Amino acid sequence: MAILENLKWRYATKKYDPAKKISKQDIDTIVEAARLAPTSSGLQQFRVFVISDQDLKNKIVPIANGQQIVADSSHLLVFAAWDKYTAERIDSIYDLTTDERSLPRGRFSTYTDKLKNLYLTQTAEQNFVHTSRQAYIGFSMAIAAAAELKIDSTPMEGFNTEALDELLGLKEKGLKSVLMLPLGYRDAEGDWLHSMKKVRNPKEEFVVEL
Ligand SMILES: Cc1cc2nc3c(=O)[nH]c(=O)nc-3n(C[C@H](O)[C@H](O)[C@H](O)COP(=O)(O)O)c2cc1C
Repeated sequence: MAILENLKWRYATKKYDPAKKISKQDIDTIVEAARLAPTSSGLQQFRVFVISDQDLKNKIVPIANGQQIVADSSHLLVFAAWDKYTAERIDSIYDLTTDERSLPRGRFSTYTDKLKNLYLTQTAEQNFVHTSRQAYIGFSMAIAAAAELKIDSTPMEGFNTEALDELLGLKEKGLKSVLMLPLGYRDAEGDWLHSMKKVRNPKEEFVVEL
């Protein structure tokens, strides 16, 4: 299967060629893969910010513990999740769904009431644990889509989320940053990790057959 070959090809790129830029079409494809990700109850509890502005990428480097890959990448995706659930957020996607499917509004109200009872009785912190998990699903899809296009990426959690939220004005949008994904083209010669073997636990250890 091509997907396995592509997943073996990809690695957490440590050095990008800053001169090589990703086409608009390819970036759109990668972001679309994240948009198509399944999420819990289909709520799409996260958003993706696509950053190509060099000044902004440069400003994010110190927020990302000085990781230069942020500046050298062609594009930087930031995955940010809802800071908390609200009734409006839950209703919004279900109203869209009923409209798109030509069903009466409220068709799913028994289910959305259940969701509201579950999430609106939790703390914002508990909500964010759940919403941020959804961001990881879209993140994985974007990584896989990039690999299919032979575009390099670096999954990143190593940054100051509060500082990034401040810089991008996420609080005002009811969002909190979760993950970053620099994308671009590897500088194979300058990358210490490029020639290293990919290491994973052996299948026998990883898979438990019952
Ligand atoms: C959620 C997540 C967070 C990560 N954060 C960072 C990071 O901040 N900086 C970095 O260089 N690599 C980061 N990595 C890369 C991992 O170290 C890398 O994916 C792992 O060692 C497996 O290697 P491979 O991706 O090259 O196959 C992260 C990976 C994941 C999945």
